[in-house]
Amino acid sequence: MTMFPAKVKRLHRLLQHTFWCSPSLGKAPCSRLILGIETSCDDTGAAVLDETGEILGESLHSQKEVHLRTGGIIPTVAQQLHREHIERVVQEALERSGVDPSRLSAVATTVKPGLALSLGIGLEFSKKFVRQHNKPFIPIHHMEAHALTIRMLQHVAFPFLVLLISGGHSLLAVARGVDDFLLLGHALDEAPGDVLDKVARRLSLIKHPQCSTLSGGQAIELLAEDADRTRFPFRTPMGQTYDCCFSFAGLRNQVNMTIMKKEAEEGIEQGTLLSCVNDIAASAQHTVASHLAKRTHRAILFCKANGLLPSNSPTVVLSGGVASNQYIRKALTIITDATGLRLLCPPAKFCTDNGVMIAWNGVERLREGKGILPPDVDVSYEPKARLGVDMTAEVKAAAIRLPSVRMKISR
Ligand code: KG4
Ligand code: ZN
Repeated sequence: MTMFPAKVKRLHRLLQHTFWCSPSLGKAPCSRLILGIETSCDDTGAAVLDETGEILGESLHSQKEVHLRTGGIIPTVAQQLHREHIERVVQEALERSGVDPSRLSAVATTVKPGLALSLGIGLEFSKKFVRQHNKPFIPIHHMEAHALTIRMLQHVAFPFLVLLISGGHSLLAVARGVDDFLLLGHALDEAPGDVLDKVARRLSLIKHPQCSTLSGGQAIELLAEDADRTRFPFRTPMGQTYDCCFSFAGLRNQVNMTIMKKEAEEGIEQGTLLSCVNDIAASAQHTVASHLAKRTHRAILFCKANGLLPSNSPTVVLSGGVASNQYIRKALTIITDATGLRLLCPPAKFCTDNGVMIAWNGVERLREGKGILPPDVDVSYEPKARLGVDMTAEVKAAAIRLPSVRMKISR
């Protein structure tokens, strides 16, 4: 996207006049304020942050329960729900923050990747909003936002390794700067959250008294707690492929076959709860954790071999909805302990989608003056968008073999 000099000048003027000065706020006498808007999947989120990362107001509308009842996300339903809620959610975030739109320095909105129909609602709303209030616009990459959230919560300097796992994605990347990523691995088929959601649906966990309002991943984590993860020894995917990419579709097949076999043995129909759901959940969760841990282990070794991480306090950041899972966090801790890295993970409410992480990404970009557009620039959404420079071929060519690590994960 090219910007004409007159436009650039106008944008600078706009940014200069959007500082918010309040001597009563000791820590940031002239802090700029950002509104963040998220609608890439099934959460309508908005938040107002100041430049220090303080959350002044936020609002979130989750569509989870509707999609649980319809057996998965139907894009047109998600779009309609975003349409119904976006105005209220943004209003609520603004009201809770006590910030009038005129005092905002910019609006940051997820424009990629995600469901086209969902992204469209957030983008259309934001375009109107920035034009109406004459504010700069910062388009946000949803995965960049997941990767940077941790920096809102604690000091983490670039570069660091990041593992992002959600309902739509899984990727390993080196974060070298706000908009500078090296992609080491990505999903070849389905994402881990998607597979956990599908397994939960196939197991009819919505009928389980403890799971009726939980997402698939949450339900599987809960049922796995006191179960036997060794009862169904599913194969960890891609054992013979020495790269950092992910594949979960084969695991879903293995789990489905086991479920069919058990239904036949127990003489029950699909849609009825099996007696062994807990053990299936625990075995599936363990295999997901083990696959993620192995790919991350290789990514760490690749980074070490290529000097991609600092020698002082090298860090792995884990985020995205599936990163809320405590068992997966423990599996990754085993790897980071074995390799001398530290593992950082935002609390669950910042791992799943929300407006705060988008606003924070806006803060990071505003501070660096990166990707800030005038209100009238035409921006489109992109349902598919890679993060960073693709290094997956180099990782594969390195063919790093892993030393064995005992995955004894305590509960
Ligand atoms: O990041 P997110 O909110 O949305 C996407 O960008 O996809 O992630 C949602 C995914 C869902 O698939 C959900 O089942 C999964 O995160 N999830 C979990 C847990 N909580 C949410 N998966 C495993 N364990 C959890 N505790
Ligand atoms: Zn997400």
